[in-house]
Amino acid sequence: VKGGYPTFMDKEIHDQPKAVADTLLGRTDEQGNLQLDELRIDEAILRRIDKIIVVACGTAAYAGHVAKYAVEHWVRIPVEVELAHEFRYRDPVVNEKTLVVAISQSGETMDTIMAVRHAREQGSKVLAVVNTYGSTIARESDAVLYTHAGPEVAVASTKAFLAQITATYLLGLYLSQLRGTKYLDEVAGYLTELARLPEKIEQVLAREEEVRDIARSMRDVTSVLFLGRHVGYPVALEGALKLKELAYIHAEGFAAGELKHGPIALIDTGQPVIIVVPTPRRPTLHAKVVSNIQEVRARGAHTIVIAEEGDTDVEPYADVIIRIPATPTLMTPLVAVVPLQIFACELATAKGLDVDQPRNLAKSVTVE
Ligand code: BG6
Repeated sequence: VKGGYPTFMDKEIHDQPKAVADTLLGRTDEQGNLQLDELRIDEAILRRIDKIIVVACGTAAYAGHVAKYAVEHWVRIPVEVELAHEFRYRDPVVNEKTLVVAISQSGETMDTIMAVRHAREQGSKVLAVVNTYGSTIARESDAVLYTHAGPEVAVASTKAFLAQITATYLLGLYLSQLRGTKYLDEVAGYLTELARLPEKIEQVLAREEEVRDIARSMRDVTSVLFLGRHVGYPVALEGALKLKELAYIHAEGFAAGELKHGPIALIDTGQPVIIVVPTPRRPTLHAKVVSNIQEVRARGAHTIVIAEEGDTDVEPYADVIIRIPATPTLMTPLVAVVPLQIFACELATAKGLDVDQPRNLAKSVTVE
């Protein structure tokens, strides 16, 4: 069942190229246009919506955070991302012009189910992005866009996260095609980029041992900070969550730009900081994050830098560099998160912990 891997988590990390490829599969017509037949929400309604609210918990919520960057850019309507349990018990502004997107691997997370029910009571259409066929959220929503990650057994989510980003990107491209905010050839260009991701994820996996060596050398750390900017920010949050869940190490993710507004006070000699660096082909984003690496390094941080192949600007300030293949900005979460998953998995393994069944956690939380 574990496909020759020591744990489900190891297997599921390696399943990721396929999870992305399978989620893309069969979603274009013969002309290459995006076809999301399963959407079953009237096109007239999808043309009319003026806001999207993503509701989810845990890793699924971080997939929503990533999606916000792409969907707003492509569809030009506001996307809010909210933890399902917070959404449910405040008084959110939702109506028939709101599309609520519920992201859930299991489709059984009670907090997310309650948010779905609340949204539908307010007259919103709910689109579920779920991995488990026939699950409660799938059944109770107006439409379902399935992620095809296959069964995810390890409690902490890995391949479902990549499949969720892929599916929400398809949704964004579909809406931009429908609403005419992107030309069809632009949509096709993004689909081509997405189709290249499985190969790029394989390239990251091929360097797994380097990441595991780094993790083993850090098995005694007590706190790790993660920094990212733009789509790298939710990647930093997810990297920190993986480390908490799997290795029980205090970890926090920050928006890199926020560092100077507070968190930099945490930096002391030897503090490990993992930085997700944007592609140098986005110089404004890139330069700012490189200077953040410089700032934490100058204050004694031990810097572990996730940077694109050929990015030499980071070299003077990096204690360790983990290379990822060149990828368009919006697609980078799908490659940049992989070393962070491997890092957390190996650190937990080095500490002798059960990575598939971390203490106190359940695969799907069916109570509020
Ligand atoms: C938590 C799991 O309980 O629920 C996480 O430990 C998961 O891994 C989160 O991301 C949300 O679960 P789901 O099934 O709604 O995606």
